[in-house]
Amino acid sequence: MKARIALMTGGGDAPGLNGIIEAVSRSLLRSGFEVIGIRDGFEGVFEGNFRPIVAEELTGIHAQAGTYLGTSNKSGLKGRESEFIEKWRQMGAQGLVVAGGDGTFAALSSLENQVPLIGVPKTIDNDLAGTEQTFGFDTACAVVADSVDALRATADAHRRILIVETMGRTAGWIALGGGLASYADVILIPERPFDRSALYEFIREKKRSGQRGLLVVAAEGAHARAETAQVAFRVEGSPEAVRLGGIGEKLARDFEKETGWESRHVVLGHLQRARHPTTMDRFLTLSMGVQAAQMVSEGAWGQAVVYRQGRVSRAPVRELMGAPRLVPEQHPWLELARHLGAWI
Ligand code: F6P
Repeated sequence: MKARIALMTGGGDAPGLNGIIEAVSRSLLRSGFEVIGIRDGFEGVFEGNFRPIVAEELTGIHAQAGTYLGTSNKSGLKGRESEFIEKWRQMGAQGLVVAGGDGTFAALSSLENQVPLIGVPKTIDNDLAGTEQTFGFDTACAVVADSVDALRATADAHRRILIVETMGRTAGWIALGGGLASYADVILIPERPFDRSALYEFIREKKRSGQRGLLVVAAEGAHARAETAQVAFRVEGSPEAVRLGGIGEKLARDFEKETGWESRHVVLGHLQRARHPTTMDRFLTLSMGVQAAQMVSEGAWGQAVVYRQGRVSRAPVRELMGAPRLVPEQHPWLELARHLGAWI
């Protein structure tokens, strides 16, 4: 009988998830494993919603955003651990390959001894501990950069400030990466609370210099000194209950009032998770998916595929559960922004 391996995606989707599904499944099927796909993250385990994956259905999915298996970031496992183990045993799988974020791995960590696990780190936010780049991040930056480049035309046409609000709760990687790639004038990230008066003066100076439009990129978690991030709503039961949002609109009102420069804002929201993956994200997921399949063949349970020092390697899954990886004070990208004369 063929060994059965289950595949699951958990948490918010990220461009590249389908690349992981295609690469892991193709590799495992070629090595003689049976692969089953669990639907909608943990919910699929509780509801017994899974089915075998065959090679023919995988063709080309790597190029699409979303996840072929479905996912959920609404609920974790809290209080339902023994039910989960029971359902997992009924599935008859020898191991589980999970592409997920900190919430997914934190939920599974307590079950380490009962559920043989291989982890694949995933988030567009690029802030998971234990790995230096997550797939989906490059694609999200491309969405931000393309948007800023496009909005520059209308900002210049109307002599306006345009603020682009990006995802990024505690880490500003997307705002910084996308903002730099599009030469934005102002980049606001959660790691660097801004001084309101100094920022208003920076903007007034740009206006005095005769600049027509001004492009601002603000992460959803960005905030001024002594203030906190704007909370949009809560999702009770979710491992990350607080959903942020609103900084773009708030800044537009503040900038207009304080500098007299007409301001508008755009919230990119889920567009950042919805574009087909860039070539870089495709290579990353191909390499990570093949590595994960090799780990299954070797029985390297409890390990995760990580990206460190320019290559795909392995590390214990628990290393993904550390505190979010923030933009460090000395990061070279901050230096690039300063060279451009951007506010960072
Ligand atoms: O973790 C990725 C992320 O995109 C965050 O940046 C964002 O705040 C959150 O997910 C939004 O999640 P939801 O799918 O619940 O809107």
